[in-house]
Amino acid sequence: MGDDTQYESTFGASLLEHEDAAPQNLTDNPTMGELIGQRFSRRGLLKGALAVSAISATVGTAALATAERAEARGSEGSAFAFKEVAAGVDADHHVAEGYDADVLLRWGDPLFPDAPQFDPAKQTPEAQARQFGYNNDFVGYLPLPGAADPSAHGVLFVNHEYTNPHLMFPGVVEIKDGKPVMKNATKERYSIEAMAHGATVAEIRRTDGKWALVKDSKLNRRITVATEMQLSGPVAGTERVRTKADTSGRKVFGTLNNCAGAMTPWGTFVSGEENFHGYFSGKLPEGHREEANYKRLAIPSSPYAWGRFEERFDLASEPNEANRFGWIVEIDPFDPKSVPKKRTALGRFKHEGADNIVAKDGRVVAYLGDDERFDYVYKFVTAGRFDPNDRAANMDLLDSGTLHVAKFAADGTLEWMPLVFGQGPLTAANGFASQADVLIETRRAGDLLGATKMDRPEDITPNGVNGRVYVMLTNNTSRKDEQVDAANPRAKNAFGHIIEIIEDGGDFTATKGRWEVLLKCGDPSVAAVGASFSTETSKNGWFGMPDNAVVDSAGRLWVATDGNGPKETGRTDGLWAVDTKGAARRTSKLFYRVPHGAELCGPCFTPDDTTAFVAVQHPGDDGPDWPEFGRRSYYEDLSTRWPDFKPDMPVRPSVVAITRKGGGKIGV
Ligand code: FEO
Ligand code: CA
Ligand code: CA
Repeated sequence: MGDDTQYESTFGASLLEHEDAAPQNLTDNPTMGELIGQRFSRRGLLKGALAVSAISATVGTAALATAERAEARGSEGSAFAFKEVAAGVDADHHVAEGYDADVLLRWGDPLFPDAPQFDPAKQTPEAQARQFGYNNDFVGYLPLPGAADPSAHGVLFVNHEYTNPHLMFPGVVEIKDGKPVMKNATKERYSIEAMAHGATVAEIRRTDGKWALVKDSKLNRRITVATEMQLSGPVAGTERVRTKADTSGRKVFGTLNNCAGAMTPWGTFVSGEENFHGYFSGKLPEGHREEANYKRLAIPSSPYAWGRFEERFDLASEPNEANRFGWIVEIDPFDPKSVPKKRTALGRFKHEGADNIVAKDGRVVAYLGDDERFDYVYKFVTAGRFDPNDRAANMDLLDSGTLHVAKFAADGTLEWMPLVFGQGPLTAANGFASQADVLIETRRAGDLLGATKMDRPEDITPNGVNGRVYVMLTNNTSRKDEQVDAANPRAKNAFGHIIEIIEDGGDFTATKGRWEVLLKCGDPSVAAVGASFSTETSKNGWFGMPDNAVVDSAGRLWVATDGNGPKETGRTDGLWAVDTKGAARRTSKLFYRVPHGAELCGPCFTPDDTTAFVAVQHPGDDGPDWPEFGRRSYYEDLSTRWPDFKPDMPVRPSVVAITRKGGGKIGV
């Protein structure tokens, strides 16, 4: 079907997470100003390394010991105390001294007593549907109700965003003209990959300081492309989501490309459908009403082209199916038979996550990023109020409320503009006949309101301790000098930045606020990069490409990255501790880093901050950029076999539990 050949020969699927597609926002919302951006130069890192060895040669050991203690305490006023990891690239993961990083769940691990052991040479869809899925992204943790220690016994929820067939299966890559080329998917391979997508619910328990899966738990569950889900909220049942297979417009199978997510205050998980466009193929019937809608979302897009194997993913057969993806999905982990709900009130776009918080008046506010170059930052405010004493009354809070899109002004103010049918330009004159239409085409509604075009909004994390909100903007090398604005201050923004929002009156439901750039990322020793880490930040502590973020119970910000590498920044991705207040503001320290080829996803702390769960996604992908390996990594020739390091085991995406040796809170 169409461009299969191109996909198979370029490893397109592994690029889904990255900047493979052209930016989809072709409107000309205003931009202003100018500033320089420049890619990382290796010179900076070399200079740093030389400087360190020069100091070691001339300074006495006593002075070095003092310096080491100071490093562990952090810079003056820092909220963090740990000795940071040395940034770099190798085949293993590394955590700060004094901590353990234990692999908890690996791709293929059996999740049920009757699930087969992982055998990479004999994978089947049936086995995969009973095992931990591929490419773990979001990780959430909720204490088991009634647990003696809420931070030692709970349910873990993990997204399985996408698959890397060249790393998963033997015999998928063949060498043609000296180059590795990926073979077309077979029906069997498609079926395994489909079962490797979705999410996992797993009961876990910590005993003698070590976490393990409770394999016989009734709560363990795999959610896949075959799981029945319900469309709920304003779009449910409307004409544009009805298909041949579902004339009700309410029943959908599966969730796709689940990226980040969050816990809700009532004890469910929400999960964002991100690059869902990459699964659809085929051509809409001539003149179909969804043409402009799909174009704005780059549907169809070649990477997976599942329409070859399942009719509903072929636009010619099922033109409306793609309108049933691109939503926030809510899952109740405590009822394994519950039907997950796609909460359409929160809009349809390439959803990153839906981090949320209870506002002063009890309404719940979810912050939403649309991860595309030049797309928007959103927030949803529920109509109803959270009732801490009545879980059932909270279960459909996400079905009604107001979705807003952000406009960042140059004077440091911010406006949250409501996306409500009938208001402003969101009327029949612009092709909207209902709120359902506004939600199905959320991006176009944002275009019409003149929202600010951002540098790929990823996680947006409200901080209940300091009342602020942190927006991860991962990068945007397509931004031209004339497109620079105050909130996106660098052209060719290779390293991304973080914006801090203060809502008016410290009220998360406010429709106005203030903002400033907390951090411009990249190597601060290369002036032309224009990074803004504090001078206390070491050569290990700076990073590029912020992606996922979490605030711990003390209100401290932790940032996980996607896109650092040997060529980009001379370091792998990892988990960085970022100070946000006092003299230490903008100081960053490296706490954990991933093996070659991986990105870090998910960070999640137990309520008492004694465990950090992190997700190591797509380890071993890439390869040519790492001089020590220097070629494309694939199943038969892998750049790393983390975490098992056995010759008959492939590299495996895994969730890692980080704890302090001997116990205690992390980073204090
Ligand atoms: Fe799946 Fe926006 O990263
Ligand atoms: Ca992400
Ligand atoms: Ca990511």
